[in-house]
Amino acid sequence: MTILVTGAAGFIGSHFCVSALQQGLDLVLLDNLENSSIKVLKIIEELSGVAPVFEQVDVRDKDALVAVFDKYSIDAVVHFAGYKAVGESSADPLMYYRNNVAGSINLLEAMKEQGVHKLVFSSSATVYGEPEFNPYTELHRKQPFNPYGQTKSMMEDMMRDLCDSDSQFSMISLRYFNPIGAHVSGKLGEDPKGIPNNLMPFVTKVAVGELKELGVFGDDYDTVDGTGVRDYIHVMDLAVGHIKAINYLSDNRGFEAVNLGAGKGYSVLQLIETFERLNNVKIPFVIKPRREGDLAAYWADATKAKQLLGWQTELGLDDMVRDSWAWQSANPNGYSDN
Ligand code: WQD
Repeated sequence: MTILVTGAAGFIGSHFCVSALQQGLDLVLLDNLENSSIKVLKIIEELSGVAPVFEQVDVRDKDALVAVFDKYSIDAVVHFAGYKAVGESSADPLMYYRNNVAGSINLLEAMKEQGVHKLVFSSSATVYGEPEFNPYTELHRKQPFNPYGQTKSMMEDMMRDLCDSDSQFSMISLRYFNPIGAHVSGKLGEDPKGIPNNLMPFVTKVAVGELKELGVFGDDYDTVDGTGVRDYIHVMDLAVGHIKAINYLSDNRGFEAVNLGAGKGYSVLQLIETFERLNNVKIPFVIKPRREGDLAAYWADATKAKQLLGWQTELGLDDMVRDSWAWQSANPNGYSDN
């Protein structure tokens, strides 16, 4: 089975490719390299032992996308390609709708035209919005409150409608919680451009001395210590979840949405303390006002992933902070170091 992987050079896509290639899956890697480095391909080869097939294509270019389907006999798609910065999506929603939604429509149309019926989609717990209850189950209503989350929710609805229209389709949307960590080798990791939006890459940039201190966005939430609580999941556990989802598609039809989370939450201060203790490094921080749009606390009910996919997280917060640091300390400037 040949699997097209969009966004393959990105943070989660690249970790998935290493795991999938190591398991002998036949992949075609696709990325426009707008938010990723061509150097990642060599690292994927080094870690997997397989020289990956790569196509530099933008999913917004329908003709170029169709040409990839014509060139390879694709059996399934794993769709990571998309913008993912919440704040940026509010500042420039059309850029997000063009890339995340129009790009996904191009992909779905190409799949339909080419008779490719299996899709695993990279979605996000952001689709749920303000928690009506915690932990989120997949039955929690969807009410995204930012354009980024809206694009993920819209793609899920398109997938569901397509599956309802044609019983040959088999699609699964994986709702990630907070992916962090890095490949245990320290050669692959998260390498955001500019000042990181997300907590862990900000922490590692402080640890490596690139940033002076961490701003903790609020300590007055109704949580264990007043700081935000999230369900952090190791990127390697996430990669395995995608492989399990591909296996599931082979024997099932229709659409499913599945949470990929650890099923427990940690606060910002708990993550900082764990990072400092495990890595023997100080993370200076200051308490700042709450960040617009942040929720106090949410985490996953991961029962469905266990029952449907036979998947659960194997790695814990200690592994996540240790592997994140191994990557950043070995690559202080990310891939530009290579
Ligand atoms: C985590 C916690 C912050 C930065 C977002 C998207 C989600 C997914 C992951 C794409 C919160 C606090 C953060 C900082 C801080 N992205 N924080 N100082 O906001 O939970 O989720 O990223 O798929 O879809 O919504 O992740 O890492 O930004 O924040 O105190 O400099 O860390 O307030 O409590 P978030 P995050």
